[in-house]
Amino acid sequence: EIDKKTPDKHVGRDSRLIRLTGVHPFNVEAPLTALFNEGFLTSPELFYVRNHGAVPEVKDESIPDWTLSIEGLVQLPFKLTLRELIEDYEQLTYPITLVCAGNRRKEQNVIRKSKGFSWGSAGVSTALWTGVAMSEVIKRARPLRQARYVCMEGADKLPNGYYGTCAKLNWVMDPNKGIMLAHRMNGEVLRPDHGKPLRAVVPGQIGGRSVKWLTKLIITEGPSDNWYHLYDNRVLPTMVDPEESAKNPKWWKDERYAIYDLSTNSATAFPEHGETLSLNNAPELYNVRGYAYGGGGRRITRVELSLNQGRTWRLANIEYPEDLYRDVDIDLYGGKIDMSWRENSFCWSFWSLQLSIDDMKMAKDILVRAMDESMNIQPRDIYWSVLGMMNNPWYRITITKKD
Ligand code: MTE
Repeated sequence: EIDKKTPDKHVGRDSRLIRLTGVHPFNVEAPLTALFNEGFLTSPELFYVRNHGAVPEVKDESIPDWTLSIEGLVQLPFKLTLRELIEDYEQLTYPITLVCAGNRRKEQNVIRKSKGFSWGSAGVSTALWTGVAMSEVIKRARPLRQARYVCMEGADKLPNGYYGTCAKLNWVMDPNKGIMLAHRMNGEVLRPDHGKPLRAVVPGQIGGRSVKWLTKLIITEGPSDNWYHLYDNRVLPTMVDPEESAKNPKWWKDERYAIYDLSTNSATAFPEHGETLSLNNAPELYNVRGYAYGGGGRRITRVELSLNQGRTWRLANIEYPEDLYRDVDIDLYGGKIDMSWRENSFCWSFWSLQLSIDDMKMAKDILVRAMDESMNIQPRDIYWSVLGMMNNPWYRITITKKD
């Protein structure tokens, strides 16, 4: 269904998506149950969208001429068209989950309003991305000795300039980090909302680092000084409130507070939060199900549920659909799937636990928490911060029972 109201008239959008910032800009998540029912891969229609402004308009006929410039601290700065990127470089296809750093922010906003809008828990989506290892392109430019960062810039012109941020050069050059320049999503040309025709995809890190409508890679000595790098995607110390953060720019300039890796997180999709369940004539068992993801490529190694406010915990089963792609050596959507060398886990996993109807009848709420392979566990309490980001305490759903 085409939405005619927003300034982004050329963008086809699905009416099931929940708008989080009014008509414009377009910031949406799917209802969690609808997202979950899609399974491992999210269709572009239900993939969450986080746009800071209007979507740059790119006509289909001009896609091959889209130009990426590689500049800054390099011996051989050069420009590359999308046609050349596709013809001259090895194409790869990988499943990668993107997550907005604001996922689950609503829970923070309930406690104390942050400066961000209220994401539920569906600010997460997975696609098969096709493109080129960013390292291959950077290598050709020959970075100079003092080069430390890769700054990325998009074509969306915003009130404070173009959207931009950075990644560390040594991450980009590390094949195990899997950082890509992607031009296809589940086999299709990228949709306008997701960066048509070219974007960065930075696995295991917050979505904010995966710059859409990518036009520039600038190699630098220090981190990005782009406004959106400094004033977005940070977790400032909890005592810094909106007033203090506005008075004192020093808080925003401290790169230690910039978020890169995602934190360990999980949520329950079935039952839904607040769902009314008829348990009287129900089958003996109820299958409680949800998702979990870790940061920096760290695998989720356990998911636990509590029906008694955290006094005791039960172990859930975990499935890793990403592993189905691990040992295959095939071409998909014009890209080679070769994850044999890639040790990390860059996708969401699914957990489930069958509970007896008697347990369900007794439970007032269900808590879930995940742990990753480095034993990072979701905390019990919320860490409130001024942008309301990286919210990952135990996920709690309450259920209402119908007689
Ligand atoms: N890139 C540009 N150029 N402009 C943006 O507004 N938003 C970022 C990132 N890249 C953004 C961007 C943020 S905060 C997120 S979470 C992801 O894109 C969202 O990607 P998606 O909309 O494809 O899900």
